[in-house]
Amino acid sequence: MADAAIGADVQSGGISRREFLYYIWGASMALYLAQFSGLMVWFLKPRFREGEFGGKFVLSLDAVPDINAAPANYPDGRFWLVQVDSEKPNELFESASDEDQPFKGVLAIYKVCTHLGCIYAWTPANNRFECPCHGSKYRLDGRRIEDPAPRSLDRFQLEFLDANRVPIPDTLSPEVDGFYRPVTIPEGAAFISVDTSAKKTGPAEKLLCDFTGECP
Ligand code: FES
Repeated sequence: MADAAIGADVQSGGISRREFLYYIWGASMALYLAQFSGLMVWFLKPRFREGEFGGKFVLSLDAVPDINAAPANYPDGRFWLVQVDSEKPNELFESASDEDQPFKGVLAIYKVCTHLGCIYAWTPANNRFECPCHGSKYRLDGRRIEDPAPRSLDRFQLEFLDANRVPIPDTLSPEVDGFYRPVTIPEGAAFISVDTSAKKTGPAEKLLCDFTGECP
């Protein structure tokens, strides 16, 4: 019987069967740990790089349009840049009597309609954003001015940088009631950084009476 017991460890090509099984188990564990470590590295790595949608876009200040001028289109980042000032109304941008004022600054607006996700466009003939799918309209700052969109356009967080691309303090989009508000261009700004990984959903604001023609 002792011979049979020892039989399990019979030498085969220099190693016993038990040693062979240990080696197989060890190799499996090493492979499993390598896969697990690889997955952890992949998981912890930032998913998006600068200049890719889902990451940050750093643009020269020249990219920012003038106050209440036509929006600048950035298809790679899927946003529009606009600069508005409610105290300087013109044919492209008018504030309304039934909204909080004043407000001014730069905004980065997501290019997807809040109704069913179509890509809307700036319509120069009408000085507003219009969606070709079901006719929603938005003002230059992304505010919903005509149905069926249920809410205003989403916005991305932005920040101004100096000539060395260092963030200028207190220029990160302020968040009020869960939505990004405009940022005025600060002294010394040379670049603007738009973070397309930081998006706030446009609020379901009421339709402005100046645009519906139903002011009291
Ligand atoms: S998807 Fe834009 S109006 Fe319907």
